[in-house]
Amino acid sequence: MARLHFFEFEDQSWFPGLLRAQMTDYLVYAVRQLRSFPSYAASRLAPALRARGQRRLVDLGSGSGGVMPEVVRALADEQGIQAGALLTDRYPHGAHAAEVREEPTGRVDFHPDPVDATHVPADLHGVRTLFLSFHHFRPEPAREILADAVRAGSGIAIFELTERRLISILGSVPGIPVMVLLLTPFMRPFQWSRLLFTYLLPILPFLIFWDGLVSHLRTYSVAELEQLVAELDAPDWHWDVRRERLPGMPAACTSLVGYPRADPAPESASSTSRS
Ligand SMILES: C[S@@+](CC[C@H](N)C(=O)[O-])C[C@H]1O[C@@H](n2cnc3c(N)ncnc32)[C@H](O)[C@@H]1O
Repeated sequence: MARLHFFEFEDQSWFPGLLRAQMTDYLVYAVRQLRSFPSYAASRLAPALRARGQRRLVDLGSGSGGVMPEVVRALADEQGIQAGALLTDRYPHGAHAAEVREEPTGRVDFHPDPVDATHVPADLHGVRTLFLSFHHFRPEPAREILADAVRAGSGIAIFELTERRLISILGSVPGIPVMVLLLTPFMRPFQWSRLLFTYLLPILPFLIFWDGLVSHLRTYSVAELEQLVAELDAPDWHWDVRRERLPGMPAACTSLVGYPRADPAPESASSTSRS
């Protein structure tokens, strides 16, 4: 299936911030049900952090924070890496997200100013991460995001749960409105506006359905990510692209992890592995 870059509401500067926040809040709540995802992400991030002893993640397109608080805890508890994370977004609204505010290690912060993932400020150092947000970028800016991480020497990791395959789309997208209706009463903090836009004027089920469908249609395949990597000038970098099932979950994750080798060898070629 060819990649289709249809319109997503979340990308629009005119889109009301309240609805944007409620959509990304839902995403956090839904993805947190995939219990093994943070541990999986931590295991994929650990080599990038260890390669050059880095201890900071700079997350791009963070929305309401995603599962970053859980990833930071999994890095500490399961990988022995005491890392911190700076969450950023082009439309920053996640600073008040309960999971970020109440994160017990205090090592997860939200950057208050807008950060466009295609123009990361030079003073934001750390391994760059994009959770469920790389599909927002067409191939040229997507390549530039990878190239800029290489220039910054920082390492980069991308995680996508959506997939551009009919079986994946049919298996998850039609159920989105029902899931929104079922999960909303359990979301915290409680907001009357969330109930209003879910049950009385049910636009959130539609908005989340639409952006979910378009996210699937935009998601890069393993082969396309490998192609983007192959076009980079990064001979001393290690690259690992794969799609694999999340342990114990009825879901899979496409991920790309790239980082400068700890001991760069001038003659070495970049390596790409997939499973
Ligand atoms: C699908 S949400 C993912 C949120 C979060 N990473 C998570 O896992 O829940 C995508 C986010 O990307 C942000 N975004 C879209 N275009 C962006 C850009 N050019 N630069 C930075 N963030 C962007 C949107 O505002 C939105 O918050």
